[in-house]
Amino acid sequence: MMSALRILLVPLALCTLHAPLGQSACVEVDSDTEAVVGEGFKLGCISCKMRGEVEAKATVSWYFMPKGENEFSPIYIYDPSQQQPPTILDDRFFDRLDWNGSKNTMDVQDGSVYILNVTFNDTGTFRCYFDRWLTYPNYEFQTNATKDIIIKVVPKATRGMASILSEIMMYVSIIGLQLWLVVEMVYCYRKIAAAGEEALRESAAEYLAIASESKDNCAGVQVAE
Ligand SMILES: *[C@@H]1O[C@H](CO)[C@@H](O)[C@H](O)[C@H]1NC(C)=O
Ligand SMILES: *[C@@H]1O[C@H](CO)[C@@H](O)[C@H](O)[C@H]1NC(C)=O
Ligand SMILES: *[C@@H]1O[C@H](CO)[C@@H](O)[C@H](O)[C@H]1NC(C)=O
Ligand SMILES: *[C@@H]1O[C@H](CO)[C@@H](O)[C@H](O)[C@H]1NC(C)=O
Repeated sequence: MMSALRILLVPLALCTLHAPLGQSACVEVDSDTEAVVGEGFKLGCISCKMRGEVEAKATVSWYFMPKGENEFSPIYIYDPSQQQPPTILDDRFFDRLDWNGSKNTMDVQDGSVYILNVTFNDTGTFRCYFDRWLTYPNYEFQTNATKDIIIKVVPKATRGMASILSEIMMYVSIIGLQLWLVVEMVYCYRKIAAAGEEALRESAAEYLAIASESKDNCAGVQVAE
């Protein structure tokens, strides 16, 4: 069921990937919240400008609060005006975060990052913070936006087992239906064949009956003579 959902969501995701690239069409899509241990996971965070036509620049910072703790600590900063690669600020995410947001623009509206090799320790709340400067002809205007994403990390087996089971059930029911069809066909064929023989026998008997009847008639005629 999950994979069917994914197939449905892929075109949607493709649309939203393109959206932030255009100047006007920006759509704020909520992030996925269920990560699978050992796999990669995209932490989605899109913050659209209120006025699409106004020039802007933005930086994005990410924070993390593990489940059971009550404080956020900074983990990642993306500043497009810096030439060097983005900074990972936390050992727990060292070498495990990759920029998945707007590229080659100061005007960042998609601040998504990609976690490589998710562990159960990534369970908790991620906070995405946008700092944005809008450039009007005579002045600059600063805005900010914050989004929290609560991430649940699930073991690989649960989803895999469920989908494997549903796949097996699908094959079992397909094979079952086909076997039933074959049995039904054989049964019907036999019935028809038997009916055919019966009819043959009946018509033969009828023929014989007519024949003997006519013989009787002949005899009768002969007797009458
Ligand atoms: C996100 O980052 C991952 C890992 O670097 C990469 O495989 C993937 O293609 C990226 N996706 C986008 C949309 O940038
Ligand atoms: C993911 O982490 C495991 C151990 O936690 C390691 O064996 C594996 O090589 C890592 N995979 C990647 C792609 O980094
Ligand atoms: C998860 O956190 C625990 C406790 O901090 C630590 O012992 C363990 O090594 C961590 N696991 C991973 C895969 O980082
Ligand atoms: C975010 O913007 C609000 C006003 O919209 C402001 O009061 C607040 O100080 C800003 N936060 C930061 C960290 O700049």
